[in-house]
Amino acid sequence: MKENHILKPFVFTLFGASGNLAKIKLFPSFYQLAFFGYLPDEYYIFGYSRTEKTEKEFKKEFADAVRANEKVVDEKVLSKLIEHVYYFHGQYDDLARFTEFHDYVHEVSKGGDIEHTSYFSVPPSVYENIITNLVSVHEHDRERVRLIIEKPFGNDEESAEDLYHFVSSHFEEEQIFLLDHYLGKTAVQSILQLRHSNRFLNLMMRGSEIANIQITAFEDYGIGERAGYFDNTGIIRDMVQSHLLQSLALVTMSIPLRQSAESIQRERNSVLSAVYSPLHEHDIVIGQYSSYHTEKDVPENSSTETFAALRLKIDRDTWHNVPLYLRTGKKLCEKHTFVVVEFKKFEYQSDDDEPNRFVIELQPEERISLKLLNKIGPEEIYQEVTTTDSIACSVEDGCLKDHTSLILSAMRGERTYFLSFPEVISTWKITDAIIQTIQDKKIPLEIYEDGSCGPDSQSNVTNRDNFKWYDVHLPKQI
Ligand code: BG6
Repeated sequence: MKENHILKPFVFTLFGASGNLAKIKLFPSFYQLAFFGYLPDEYYIFGYSRTEKTEKEFKKEFADAVRANEKVVDEKVLSKLIEHVYYFHGQYDDLARFTEFHDYVHEVSKGGDIEHTSYFSVPPSVYENIITNLVSVHEHDRERVRLIIEKPFGNDEESAEDLYHFVSSHFEEEQIFLLDHYLGKTAVQSILQLRHSNRFLNLMMRGSEIANIQITAFEDYGIGERAGYFDNTGIIRDMVQSHLLQSLALVTMSIPLRQSAESIQRERNSVLSAVYSPLHEHDIVIGQYSSYHTEKDVPENSSTETFAALRLKIDRDTWHNVPLYLRTGKKLCEKHTFVVVEFKKFEYQSDDDEPNRFVIELQPEERISLKLLNKIGPEEIYQEVTTTDSIACSVEDGCLKDHTSLILSAMRGERTYFLSFPEVISTWKITDAIIQTIQDKKIPLEIYEDGSCGPDSQSNVTNRDNFKWYDVHLPKQI
C-alpha cells in the first residue's frame, strides 16, 4: 500500500459509464490506482448509464478499455479489480430506477458504513436530474456523499451560478469537487512547483520583467462524434474557459507562502478575476476547419468556432502592458500544448536580438527550455543557447495520469487541484465577454485547411504589440 492510499472503504458511482471518457480515462485510472496499491481492501465501482447491458458485458468493456489504453497490463491486478466492478442501467431523471439502483448498491456493499462518490461524466443537461435523485436516495446519509463534476460547469456565468446554487443548496462545499483535468497533469502542476522552488525564476515571472505570455493548445484531430456537445459549445467555451485560463493563472498568480488548497485557489482566483479581454475586434481571431461541416451531426450552416486566438490583459499596475496571448484549435498541424514566457530585453538590444524565453511544454512532450543569448566569435554574433530538460514523470516512474491523480485527490479530500466556485465564475466572466465581443463586432469566422496551423490572421493579435507567436514544433516523426 502507498503512504497516501485511500483509507476508507468506498462506493464509486460513475454516471455516464458507457461514454468515451469512461473508457479512455476513467477505467484506466482505476487500474492505475489498483496497480500502485492506492485502493483499500473494500471498494465497489458502479457504472450507471442509459445503455442496457449486463454486468458481465460491462466488466468486459471495462477490462478491454484498460487493455486498450494502458501500455502494459498486469492481468492479475486487472482481474482482481474487475471483481469490484458492477453495472446498472437507467435514465438519469427516473427516481424509481435510482431507488432500485440505491437498493442494489446497498445489497452489494452490505449496507456498511461507507463513503459514496458520484462522478459526473455526463452532459451538463442531466446534472440537476442526477443531483435531485441523489438527494432523494441519500435522504439519511447525505453527508457521506461526494460529487466529482467534470467541466464544463455551466455554459456561461449565469448558468454556472444557477447550477452552483442548486448543488450547494443540497451539498456542502467540501463535498463538491469541480474537475478540470488540466490541473491533474503533472507538467501543469510543475508550473507552480518550478516557480515555488526556483528563486531566480520566480523573481523573473513578474509583469515588470515579462514582455508577453503565450499559451498554445493545438490538437490534430477534429470533433469526432461529439457534435452534439461541441457544436453548441465552440472552442472558446470548450478549451479557453477552463483549461487555458487555469494554465494562465498558474503562470501569473502570486505564490502563496502556505501551499494550502485555500491559499492556492485564492491566488489563482485573484489573478483570474483581474484578467480581462480588451474587447476590440483586433484582439480576437476565430476560425473553423474546412471539413467541419462534413462531421457527423454538424448542421450545414454551423458557424461554431473550432479555432481561437485571443489577446487578454491583467488589470493590475504590475502587469500593465503585458499582453497575454492564447490560441487553441482542432484539426491543426499537430497535437501540442505549450506555454512561452517572453522576457523584456535591455534597452540597448536591437529589434533583431531574440528575447530570453522560458518555454514549458505540457504535452505530448513534458519539458522546460530556457533560451539565452551569448556573444561569441570575432564578429561577436549572438548565439542562442537553449537548455532543455524533460520534466516528464511517467506511470512507470510512479506518477499518475491526470484523471487518476485527481480521482485519488478527491477520494482523499484534497482540493488544491480542483476548481473553486469563484474561479469558475471568474473564468466564465472572461469567456462571456469574449463571446459578446465576437457577436457585437461581428468578428468573421475564417476557414482554415485541415492539418494547417490555423488561420494566418492569428498573427494579427500579436502584431499589434510588435510581437510574434513563438512556434515550438515537435520533431517530425519519420
Ligand atoms: C476536453 C475538451 O476538456 O479537453 C476536448 O472537451 C479536448 O475538446 C480535451 O479535446 C483536450 O484534453 P487534452 O488533455 O488532450 O489536452
